[in-house]
Amino acid sequence: MAFGIQDIQGYLRLVLGSILLKGDTAVDATAGRGRDTLFLAQSVGREGRVYAFDIQPEALSETQRRLQEHAQHEQVVLSRLDHARMGEVVEGRAKVVMFNLGYLPGGDHALTTQSESTLAAMKAALDLLEVNGIMAITAYRAHPGGDREAFEVDAFLAGLSRSAFSVLKGEYINQMSNAPYWILVQRKREDFGHEDSPPNKNSGTDW
Ligand SMILES: C[S@@+](CC[C@H](N)C(=O)[O-])C[C@H]1O[C@@H](n2cnc3c(N)ncnc32)[C@H](O)[C@@H]1O
Repeated sequence: MAFGIQDIQGYLRLVLGSILLKGDTAVDATAGRGRDTLFLAQSVGREGRVYAFDIQPEALSETQRRLQEHAQHEQVVLSRLDHARMGEVVEGRAKVVMFNLGYLPGGDHALTTQSESTLAAMKAALDLLEVNGIMAITAYRAHPGGDREAFEVDAFLAGLSRSAFSVLKGEYINQMSNAPYWILVQRKREDFGHEDSPPNKNSGTDW
């Protein structure tokens, strides 16, 4: 491994890079400074498609700059849109959807992802996922509101049908209790619906 396991994004790229093929479709739900978008664009190649979302112009211009620097911009569609609306933009199904929650590194720390739109976006992402496709989430609990968002994300994902999805969580057990962690959700079959999942009291949804 060319990175330490304290690098969650590095670890997730290793996992996601093992399933992504040239020509695939992938989504970066939180483009930020574009590092994950660039990884996805390089993985799917010119014949693939990456859709990247962010609500901050600064994030999108930095992502565009990074993609152009690596000549990886042609296969990427950047949208200044709430990721909850990804279903309006993404064409076809996605092999991978990445969420890197929290605030823009080096940006306004008060502008963070919010539980309500995050959960709506995750539902949209699950609808878009191919069978065997993976939704990857990195969650942060140290900033104001991060703990609540992480709790609600966990509750929602824990309530998903186990016959339709595998949900795996990776957490450091020798660090502060508010250390970041990751969750992978893999779709196991084509058909799934609300009736497969018991109502989840914590998430406030009927999934
Ligand atoms: C932790 S950063 C992402 C880092 C990024 N993946 C990278 O590689 O640099 C989180 C990003 O989510 C964005 N964001 C917050 N709420 C959003 C929403 N509702 N829809 C889309 N993006 C959102 C923020 O503007 C911020 O840039």
